[in-house]
Amino acid sequence: MDRYLINGGKKLYGEVEISGAKNAAVAMIPAALMVDGVCRIENMPQISDTDMLMSIISALGAKIKVIDPTTVEIDCRSVHNCDAPYDKMRRIRASYYLIGAMLGRFGCAKTTMPGGCNFGVRPIDQHIKGMVAMGAKVEVKNGFVYAEARGGRLNGARIYLDKVSVGATMNIMIAAVMASGRTVIENAAREPHIVDLANFLNSMGADVRGAGTDTIKVNGVERLHGGTYSIIPDQIEAGTYMMAVAAAGGEVRINNIIPKHLECISAKLVEMGVDVEELEDAVIVRREGPLRPTNVKTLPYPGFPTDMQPQISTALCFANGTSFVTEGVWDNRYKYVNELRKMGANIEVSGRTAVIEGVPCLTGAPVAACDLRAGAAMVIAGLCANGVTEVEDVHFIERGYEDFTGKLIRLGADITVVRDPDEPEKVPMFAV
Ligand code: EPZ
Repeated sequence: MDRYLINGGKKLYGEVEISGAKNAAVAMIPAALMVDGVCRIENMPQISDTDMLMSIISALGAKIKVIDPTTVEIDCRSVHNCDAPYDKMRRIRASYYLIGAMLGRFGCAKTTMPGGCNFGVRPIDQHIKGMVAMGAKVEVKNGFVYAEARGGRLNGARIYLDKVSVGATMNIMIAAVMASGRTVIENAAREPHIVDLANFLNSMGADVRGAGTDTIKVNGVERLHGGTYSIIPDQIEAGTYMMAVAAAGGEVRINNIIPKHLECISAKLVEMGVDVEELEDAVIVRREGPLRPTNVKTLPYPGFPTDMQPQISTALCFANGTSFVTEGVWDNRYKYVNELRKMGANIEVSGRTAVIEGVPCLTGAPVAACDLRAGAAMVIAGLCANGVTEVEDVHFIERGYEDFTGKLIRLGADITVVRDPDEPEKVPMFAV
């Protein structure tokens, strides 16, 4: 099992470049199935989730050309079947976007129930509600999702989401772009990656309006043409580095970001006594003095992102006082707390709220990454701990962070990557 060895106690200094947004990229790759032409996608993050999705559509017959480390050209004109490789689909959450894309292109879809980070029940009932409203017959059986559009093509519909769901909003949007007639998605999620997906689809000839608000209107079109699109910077990757500086101390300029997307994170950092200087497409984060405690509740955008919850909780372990962190999106996103306790953190979790008593320091220990963001939080804890922290199961981290250890080492972190000789070397299918 691959692991990271982190020798803590080093402040972070220098500059870091943020990569393309994972949660936008993992929707665009399946959506490319619907494009009757070549999709050139720039600023593609080099992470295992995007590599996995490209290998899935490649297995369906898509032709993928790697132009440079962050640019791919995807041509799905020769894709004629909707039976994607199950062993790969069940390993990532975003495989659910194949339902919307296949229904939109072929009028049928057969996928596995999605995999992904395990922090409680992660249903897809709202995705199914949307597809059924658009005229699909959907059956979930033995871990598979079977869907078929009555009459071979989806029809526009008005859909009210019972839960604000990023995935359902994006999946329904994808399915709706070539449906017959207008679809209205109400109580839609408003994350930056939803706006990015809408802009991607519109650059290929779709007619999506209102993305970023709670009501999205999609006028179905007959065809999507090829085009070029550049993915927005990753809000959560940027926030993770901001939180790393808050915890470890130092001064880092974080380049290639959209400050608006980081407003909530920046506001919390300022409350914690961290200096955040906003530039046009960068932020400079400084922390020299003590960290102040604060309270935070994670909420759908524009609230504080749930995908930043493990990272801020870890930073607050070093604050001078008591902080309260409440998880407002997921049922059980505190598995990592037990790992932090192994390092000496003083955290009590009751229901969806973690009560964090700041301690002067943590002590390095062997810990595990429980999921993608929890894994990043373990690395942040290791950067600040006395002694060496060994983080296992780092494959979770590599699903969503491009060159995480390389970027941190360039900021002064002392990290050694230990590859397991018994594990087959993971050669990305579409790396340059
Ligand atoms: C996306 O997951 C992200 N993943 C998650 O990021 C992120 O935590 C989440 O959105 C919230 O922002 C991807 O984009 C691949 P949801 P998703 O549908 O779509 C409930 C990361 O770290 N719900 O917005 O699965 C659900 O249980 C990952 O990058 C239903 O009840 O999340 C949850 O309580 C981890 N029925 C809430 O809605 C449904 O059909 C929000 O879920 C769908 C969701």
